[in-house]
Amino acid sequence: MERKLVTVLFADAMGSTSLADRLDPERLRTVLDSYFAAMAGAVDSWGGTVEKFIGDAVMAVFGVPAVREDDAERALSAAMEMMERLEELNKELQARHGLTLRMRIGVNTGEVVTGTPSDSSQRLVSGDPVNVAARLQAEAEPDAILAGERTYLSARHSFRFGGPMDLQLKGKPETVRARRVLGKASESRRGVPGLSSPLVGRAPELQALDSLLDEVLEARRPRLVTVLGPAGVGKSRLVHEFVAGVRAQHPNARVLRGRCLAAGHGITFWALGEILRAACGIRLDDPAQLALEKLKAKVPDPRTLEALAATAGIAVPGTGLEALSPQAVAEELASAWPRFASAEASADLAIWVVEDLHWAGDPLLEMLERVIARSAGPFLIIGTARPDLVDAHPGFGGGSENFSTISLRPLSSKQSQQLLEGLLTMADMPSEMTADILRKADGNPFFLEEIVRRLIEEEVLVRQDGRWHSTGSPSAGCSGPTRSSERWVTRSHRLCCRLKGAA
Ligand SMILES: Nc1ncnc2c1ncn2[C@@H]1O[C@H](COP(=O)(O)OP(=O)(O)O)[C@@H](O)[C@H]1O
Ligand SMILES: [Mg+2]
Repeated sequence: MERKLVTVLFADAMGSTSLADRLDPERLRTVLDSYFAAMAGAVDSWGGTVEKFIGDAVMAVFGVPAVREDDAERALSAAMEMMERLEELNKELQARHGLTLRMRIGVNTGEVVTGTPSDSSQRLVSGDPVNVAARLQAEAEPDAILAGERTYLSARHSFRFGGPMDLQLKGKPETVRARRVLGKASESRRGVPGLSSPLVGRAPELQALDSLLDEVLEARRPRLVTVLGPAGVGKSRLVHEFVAGVRAQHPNARVLRGRCLAAGHGITFWALGEILRAACGIRLDDPAQLALEKLKAKVPDPRTLEALAATAGIAVPGTGLEALSPQAVAEELASAWPRFASAEASADLAIWVVEDLHWAGDPLLEMLERVIARSAGPFLIIGTARPDLVDAHPGFGGGSENFSTISLRPLSSKQSQQLLEGLLTMADMPSEMTADILRKADGNPFFLEEIVRRLIEEEVLVRQDGRWHSTGSPSAGCSGPTRSSERWVTRSHRLCCRLKGAA
């Protein structure tokens, strides 16, 4: 037995009792089978495990066997996909039986006890978070997804949520905080909702990227540059701004993105899989057959196709790779990817953005080295990584002149102030408060945005007549503001500790 932080999903279909009344047992079985298959498919495509089907309910766990840092986000993506798949299924049910199923879903993150895999009678996970997930599901409106507080905290940058609701759940003395999931957040995962600042500083780094690109275009030779810096310092933002500029100048440039997943928990070549899917327009939840068709349309050569498919986890029936030794398979992959990269860069500039390389393992890093060494054409790979990458893989790039790094430093205090002003245009803020925010954020734009977001959530900062005002500051004297200022000091301190550990 082991304690783990997982995300539990409960989904329950409504309307199935009337189904049971209307259908003979055999047809009911068929309908329910296709319902369960659709739901299990949604869970599976986001890396969850269906723990069991209880009546018409589905319970799934994200975080077993391995915990991933984005389990909460995966669970919510799965929940949304379950809703979509049900809608599809309903079209059929409506046409055939004049019936519609509706569903409600509860998602909750927390520490659970997991059973040993050998003990099959044991449930995968148990504990209070499981019960809360089930209760949230029961409280949800039809067609709605309710998320618990920890799920919200983990996923709030990538999903939109309704306001907090304090629910009195059966069997729980204290209330449980829940929020309705409204949908996926747009592009940027980060930032303060409704507030955004123009890019501050970073002119030298953008210039360095520009001149690298010039070299790539001129020499028509591939290069890889790693943007290095601690979490939240602005690596992704820098690359985003650079790529936006490139797109404006080179409308035909092909830009593809892939992320590395937290070390040890993802698939070895996940980032390349994402790049391949993006190149072919393959969705994570496309059925295998469709994924393969899309891949074939893009990659006509069967040998390259097989190897690429293997990297991206796309099944190719009757693949010849299975007959090869692991060594030979590795060779196939190592020549297929440079071929693919060269094809991508054959017509015009190709840029691959590989986020969070500090989580990449040796096989992916070696593959990137090979792609750079063996492909041809105007092709630039931009990696982002925390400095741990250099500690863990000091030899990455092997000293090749085609590899370079750009280190991102924290913003200067003047730049941080500019960022704060960029976020809160027109603010009346006591100067002590400004100073305190800048000191705590310590030049890290992500910390700064988080602190501002918290202050707005806590209503320490409120918007009135088009300006932001503070209702209390750490040094305010009278009783009302003092209470909120005490709260703000302790909370933002706790927040910074948490962020420094986790971000
Ligand atoms: N130079 C900058 N100017 C304005 N906002 C920035 C800047 N750098 C980062 N940000 C903002 O700070 C947050 C964190 O940046 P991000 O690029 O995600 O960090 P990293 O990728 O290094 O972890 C994002 O919301 C981003 O838009
Ligand atoms: Mg980033």
